[in-house]
Amino acid sequence: MKRILLIDDDINLCKVIGYQLQKNGFDVTPANSGKEALGYFSKKEFDIVITDIQMPDISGIQVLKEIRRHNRQVVIIIITAHGSIDNALEACQLGADDYLTKPFSKEQLLFAIEKAVRLRELQQENTQLRAELVGKYRFENMVARSSKMEDVLRMAGQVAASDATVIILGESGTGKELIARAIHYNSPRKDKPLITVNCPSIPDNLLESELFGHVKGAFTGAIKDRKGKFELADGGTIFLDEIGDLREDVQAKLLRVLQEHEIERLGDSKTIKVDVRIIAATNKNLEMLVQEGEFREDLYYRLSVVPITIPPLRERKEEIPYLVDFFLTRYAGDRKFVIEPEVYSAMQEYDWPGNVRELENVIERAVVLATDNRITVESLPAHFQAPEKKGASDPVKLPQGDFSLEAVEKQAILEALERADGNRSQAARLLKIPRHVLLYRLKKLGIV
Ligand SMILES: Nc1ncnc2c1ncn2[C@@H]1O[C@H](COP(=O)(O)OP(=O)(O)OP(=O)(O)O)[C@@H](O)[C@H]1O
Ligand SMILES: [Mg+2]
Repeated sequence: MKRILLIDDDINLCKVIGYQLQKNGFDVTPANSGKEALGYFSKKEFDIVITDIQMPDISGIQVLKEIRRHNRQVVIIIITAHGSIDNALEACQLGADDYLTKPFSKEQLLFAIEKAVRLRELQQENTQLRAELVGKYRFENMVARSSKMEDVLRMAGQVAASDATVIILGESGTGKELIARAIHYNSPRKDKPLITVNCPSIPDNLLESELFGHVKGAFTGAIKDRKGKFELADGGTIFLDEIGDLREDVQAKLLRVLQEHEIERLGDSKTIKVDVRIIAATNKNLEMLVQEGEFREDLYYRLSVVPITIPPLRERKEEIPYLVDFFLTRYAGDRKFVIEPEVYSAMQEYDWPGNVRELENVIERAVVLATDNRITVESLPAHFQAPEKKGASDPVKLPQGDFSLEAVEKQAILEALERADGNRSQAARLLKIPRHVLLYRLKKLGIV
């Protein structure tokens, strides 16, 4: 039986419509105000919501927005006074699926409901299909509510079953490590170790020994034999994080592991067979590094058997509300928070250069700063509160005819300084360059 939430401050109309719907086999919950309706909505599941637009306390539009934020799937029909909304497009822009103009006949009502039921069933079928597809590779602790991320998970799920080398590409904070872990724990190697190597954090002179091990006396300080990470990961997976930073000679050795599945400990000529699956990740553009001669082309091809690219958060903003809920649950403990709608809109407008990690930090901070268990725009970092309106997303206007790159750069720097009120650190942040680079440019371009 389909469940309908019926909202109208006109008690009589509510009764009449409710009666007609019940007679036609629906489970109807009537509400005479927006507030009452939202109360029901948070406690019970509904398939269809019918709401009047003009109501005294919370308007139907607000109800609609609130409901949509929590449930993208429920079918919403709005009831409007004659002339206030007169086409489907307008209703749709408000987030409704259909509309009824007062006064309407019983037939019009039932026709609209019939359409809503069909839409609801289609949606349910769709959700079911999707769940089957993604559920197969359901990765825990991971939000994937956009088609782009579903593709990533599907790919990760498919590749998990094999031994194929995987390279995960994506900006900082997009979830590369999370995907690497998911691949390992969904693979037949899941009961064997997953060993992570953060390439840039290991000093150059130690990296080789870290990866491949050494024998006693191989170098000063090598007082006994030691296994490297590849040996420790035997039977399991090795995750080479930030592989773009790998030194040339280590790249050559890595290539050999990929080709021959064997290693040599430092200071030893004996080869050791290893059965290790390699997952690598980088936020660098490896192709460019290859062109610049910084990264071996043969290694690049070996690694790129299955590339998985995680899109930046700004390209999947529809996931923001889900991520917010996800991190809120993680950081709020038993506290129940209310999030003001402005928080979501501020987040939608923001570009998220630090991607999901940045969003996670923002939520953690907001939980700490929230008073009264309310998360408001004030609990977000300063740049969410005063979005730069002025030309924020205008592309740079280039002059007609010839122009020099230097002139454009100078213009950008002057503009940043103006917006930052002359504060150079702030201007550097706006330009996304380190302060010392800005200082150097200022001199070079003759600005100071
Ligand atoms: N889709 C997601 N769902 C839930 N949490 C996520 C998601 N993506 C990333 N995170 C969280 O964001 C943080 C950053 O993710 P992770 O460390 O995997 O990113 P990364 O791409 O490896 O970043 P970096 O390049 O900076 O190393 C982690 O706390 C991770 O749990
Ligand atoms: Mg990482």
